[in-house]
Amino acid sequence: MSSSVESLKVCALGALKGEFIPPGDKSISHRAIFFAAIAEGDSIVQGFLNAGDPISTVHAFRSLGVDIENYGVHYNSVGTDSTITDTLIIKGKGASGLREPKGVVDCGNSGTTMRLLAGLLSAYPFFTCLTGDNSLVGRPMARVINPLRQMGAFIYGRDWSKYPPLAIIGGKLTPITYKLPVASAQVKSALIIAGLFAHGRTIIEEPIKSRDHTERMLPAYGVSLKVEGLTVAVEGGCTLQATDFTVPGDFSSAAFIIAAACVINGSEVLIKGVGLNPTRTGFLDVLRQMGADVKIENLKANSGEPVGELLCRYTDGLKAISIGSNDIPSVIDEFPILCVLATQARGVTEIRGAKELRVKESDRIAAMTAGLRNMGVTVEEFEDGLAVEGPVQLKGALVNSYNDHRVAMAFSIAALMAKGQTEIVGYKASEISFPGFYDTIRRLAVK
Ligand code: S3P
Repeated sequence: MSSSVESLKVCALGALKGEFIPPGDKSISHRAIFFAAIAEGDSIVQGFLNAGDPISTVHAFRSLGVDIENYGVHYNSVGTDSTITDTLIIKGKGASGLREPKGVVDCGNSGTTMRLLAGLLSAYPFFTCLTGDNSLVGRPMARVINPLRQMGAFIYGRDWSKYPPLAIIGGKLTPITYKLPVASAQVKSALIIAGLFAHGRTIIEEPIKSRDHTERMLPAYGVSLKVEGLTVAVEGGCTLQATDFTVPGDFSSAAFIIAAACVINGSEVLIKGVGLNPTRTGFLDVLRQMGADVKIENLKANSGEPVGELLCRYTDGLKAISIGSNDIPSVIDEFPILCVLATQARGVTEIRGAKELRVKESDRIAAMTAGLRNMGVTVEEFEDGLAVEGPVQLKGALVNSYNDHRVAMAFSIAALMAKGQTEIVGYKASEISFPGFYDTIRRLAVK
């Protein structure tokens, strides 16, 4: 691998072998800061993901007056901000202790930071303005603005409240019963957080179950939620109590290594300490249907989340499958790497019902279609997904991540299987969720 400022040239490195512990879970790292910040007392978070997106959350809470410091002995600190490591102490401000920030709060590339903050700040009687990078300011926000207005918040965004920046003046909230039009853990979590401050019971129903980290984590801070099927009910007015929390490894980061081990001849990788929450692991069901050799071992519960090991081996002759709208929420972040995997499966893999992928950090349907076509793959693009013909010998090519971390990492894995050199423009986006991604690949590839 060789890099210039913007792009990285990647060639095949042979089989991947050895053990790997994924970096901390991104979704859980965000939530651990949110809940500790509004709890009474000090909370220690271990295994925090020291990467672009959760760093945006730490900076946002510092600007809201919360002390967040490094704690104790640090290990595995490969992130980009030296004031943050993977063990943090958060000095909780209690339910009403956040203060009005002096400047605009920059959420960087992080949709989770912005949408969850919109829910939280809707409950505070002061003014905040949330903005983000080029990608985030193009992402839809009406999905949080509309229900939060129904709860009583004054919240506005650019282009008639469709997009960021967001301007919020919060205050007294009333509970609502709300059916989410699209499955989204970010919107669900924003409304649960707002519901913590409303006087009465807020009820949220989703069309398909999305990741449930908020529901699993809040009871550890003393909040009781009622979860029944696709409905979550939260009573307002309860005080969160500080608690220590260990963040498991991120399944979505592990997915790139799992995929590489399955498709690169001779590979065998043991992934340790990885979160295996069933609302996140649809990718494992997909792999099983494709015939891949991935085994779950040593499954345990850790801070309310299942955690275990995955033994992943190269499998010859993967089969194409079809993925539809009901499957999408549990593979939502694995779409780019699934597209790469599909190039190695016999037959046509079709992924439909995935329109949400058009409004992620990039338009991931367009980004994957363009890059895979450059690498010699026959791809049919639909408004709500794509169809990939396999198996195909990938050709090294110029591909663009559009500064999307998961697209950059998916094309990097494709490059490891390709004949010739692939140049990945915007490869550094990987640091948003997986600092050390390229070092991990180099280490596992060393014979
Ligand atoms: C996330 C929810 C998902 C996911 C994102 C993280 C979260 O987004 O794609 O990476 O932490 O709640 P949506 O809620 O937009 O589906």
